[in-house]
Amino acid sequence: MLIAQISDMHVKPQGEMLAPGLDSHANLAAAIRRIDALDPRPDLAVATGDLTADGRPEEYAALRALLDRLAMPYLLLPGNHDDRDGMRAAFPDQPWEDGHFLLYAVDTWPLRFVALDTLVPGSNVGRLCNGRLAWLDRTLAAAPDRPTIVMLHHPPFATGMPHLDRMGLEDASGLAAVIGRHRQVVRILCGHIHRPIHTIFAGVPASIAPSTAFQMQLILKRGAALQWTREPPAFQLHAWSDSGHLVSHTVFVEDFGFLERPKSYKAMEAGAGKDVPA
Ligand SMILES: [Fe+2]
Ligand SMILES: [Fe+2]
Repeated sequence: MLIAQISDMHVKPQGEMLAPGLDSHANLAAAIRRIDALDPRPDLAVATGDLTADGRPEEYAALRALLDRLAMPYLLLPGNHDDRDGMRAAFPDQPWEDGHFLLYAVDTWPLRFVALDTLVPGSNVGRLCNGRLAWLDRTLAAAPDRPTIVMLHHPPFATGMPHLDRMGLEDASGLAAVIGRHRQVVRILCGHIHRPIHTIFAGVPASIAPSTAFQMQLILKRGAALQWTREPPAFQLHAWSDSGHLVSHTVFVEDFGFLERPKSYKAMEAGAGKDVPA
């Protein structure tokens, strides 16, 4: 199974710039063209929050029109720039459970997908609260033998970028306790930081997807201010194998073209007797 993970699209209505020279609508359209053109094509797309710039109804309408171009089904969850009512209104066909929060578990594919809602209106920090943690505990307990991906916008771990870690998940220790009780979780997928980042959380590989809109500058030193960069839009492509491994690729939306390889390298490839990475 192939899963394309897009994140932090920060979509505006067509023709409106997110920032000077930054067209998040056009950037998502390009990402969708890239995903649809992949061969083999992903079976599913997931979007890990900050779907829109400001959670306005016209942004969700624009987002819906773009996402419906995807040739495969898609799953959504909210980020700090989203609005719960706006998401429910624009995407009534998402598998939301009843209640205030945007939560679901989906059993359609070889992997089970469990989505969390960490949105705190008006804030850029994330929160799960005891109620949502208890929901996650119950939901994971209901299918202990199904390999499961848990998805949430706010990463539950520090990235080492102090100015961004201030806006992380408040109750990460509570999440670690729940995840630690359910060994079928094969990956935790996040967004929010606008960079590809990987670690282990509660014994489970956890990763952050880059943004399709814009990336954050890599800044590890203390006391620095946040900076947006012109690093290229990208997404994650997760491949689940029949042998039970999840392998993840970072894919740039732009096609950078090919390079001619030296003859000696080609000769080595021809003599290898099996496929060699090109
Ligand atoms: Fe974001
Ligand atoms: Fe965010």
